[in-house]
Amino acid sequence: TGGVTTIDPGFKNTGSCKSAITFLDGEKGILRYRGYAIEDLAEKASFLEVSYLLIFGELPTQVELDKFEQDIKNESLVDEDIHKILDAFPKNAHPMGVLSSLTSALTAFNPRSVEITSKEDMYHAITMLMGKFPVLVSWCMRKMKGEPLDYGDIDLGYEESFAKMMFKRPNQEYKCNKTIINALDKLLILHADHEQNCSTSTVRIVGSSHAGLFASISAGISALWGPLHGGANQAVIEMLEAIKNDGGDFEKYITKAKDKSDPFRLMGFGHRVYKNFDPRAKIIKVAAEEVLADLGIEDPVLDVARGLSEAALNDEYFKSRNLYPNVDFYSGIIYRALGIPVEMFTVLFAMGRLPGWIAQWKEMRENKEPIGRPRQLYVGEPLRAYSEIKDRK
Ligand code: SDX
Repeated sequence: TGGVTTIDPGFKNTGSCKSAITFLDGEKGILRYRGYAIEDLAEKASFLEVSYLLIFGELPTQVELDKFEQDIKNESLVDEDIHKILDAFPKNAHPMGVLSSLTSALTAFNPRSVEITSKEDMYHAITMLMGKFPVLVSWCMRKMKGEPLDYGDIDLGYEESFAKMMFKRPNQEYKCNKTIINALDKLLILHADHEQNCSTSTVRIVGSSHAGLFASISAGISALWGPLHGGANQAVIEMLEAIKNDGGDFEKYITKAKDKSDPFRLMGFGHRVYKNFDPRAKIIKVAAEEVLADLGIEDPVLDVARGLSEAALNDEYFKSRNLYPNVDFYSGIIYRALGIPVEMFTVLFAMGRLPGWIAQWKEMRENKEPIGRPRQLYVGEPLRAYSEIKDRK
């Protein structure tokens, strides 16, 4: 049989590890990072503070946060030769593929990051990745837009410097816009971790072979790219745009999503764990309305999203399957309002998820988890004799 008697496709009912990082209750729609409610963290904390909490287990004191921020700033330059890898990509390359490649390339320029034999090695690899990743993320967008690459500004805070790298126009002084910083901060916090989702499980299993941190995160980026996972935030906006251009006929798309002969699914709806509203979707929905109002943007796609969500939530097919809007349903509306190209939405998801991936990888290594190597149920051919090619029909 190959060693087992039953299999669990998609590991729907398999626990892969013990973890003290994130708690989800899918029935009640609860999400907590290290015991703190996501609602409190999204409202009151900064992304760097939440990153520290996820990675080291406690909310930092001001001294601890300042030191973490300074140590990250000291690592926030990227070797100029990485430009050559970026330049080799066509302009229309999907930025998730570019980001995964550049993240993996960090190993070549920082070989010391692979062998983690002490707390200092672990801390150094973490600060290198937290420092260089935002630069690579901004380079992906600037490459798409044909804009000069930027390194941010170490005199600014972590989130402000990231916003500057992302949004500074080449021909003008950059002024931090509070609405944009707060919206980005909240979105990054809401994406920061989500227990053993597809990409985090990928980061853990790659790291379980003692591959380096950068290579493990690069694998996680590839898993997140898929439209059933992080890629859904791009697919949601493309779906809402299609509905808007189709006269706003969201009933037609709901019918399509229910039709089993049609591979179309309502993107941004449903979740493996949440059989209730995704608590992140609730917060992002309110934030989307606030950001559009603050920036004075009328986005008809938001109206389509509201109508589609209401119609689906009242539809028997969705209700009977506990399908609710998930984190990806509204996030793209904010990214769009910030002028971020739709292909970059999943890259922003990766930027938010980075501290969660790091925290989970660190926990897996500290717990000395064994190499991930599941078994199977063999359903292939029984023993058979080799035949010479001249005798084969
Ligand atoms: C993320 O795991 C995480 O935590 C992920 C994430 C994170 O933070 O890391 O939360 C981020 O990936 C959010 C999910 C983003 N993906 C999408 O929005 C894509 C659309 N959603 C689906 O493809 C689906 O809901 C999944 C992939 C999210 C969950 O799939 P499951 O748990 O494997 O559920 P399933 O495919 O077995 O569906 C159960 C039923 C099926 O119908 P029946 O066979 O019972 O008739 O619900 C149907 C499905 O066809 N269904 C949908 C649907 N989602 C599920 N039908 C139409 N539209 C949908 N969106």
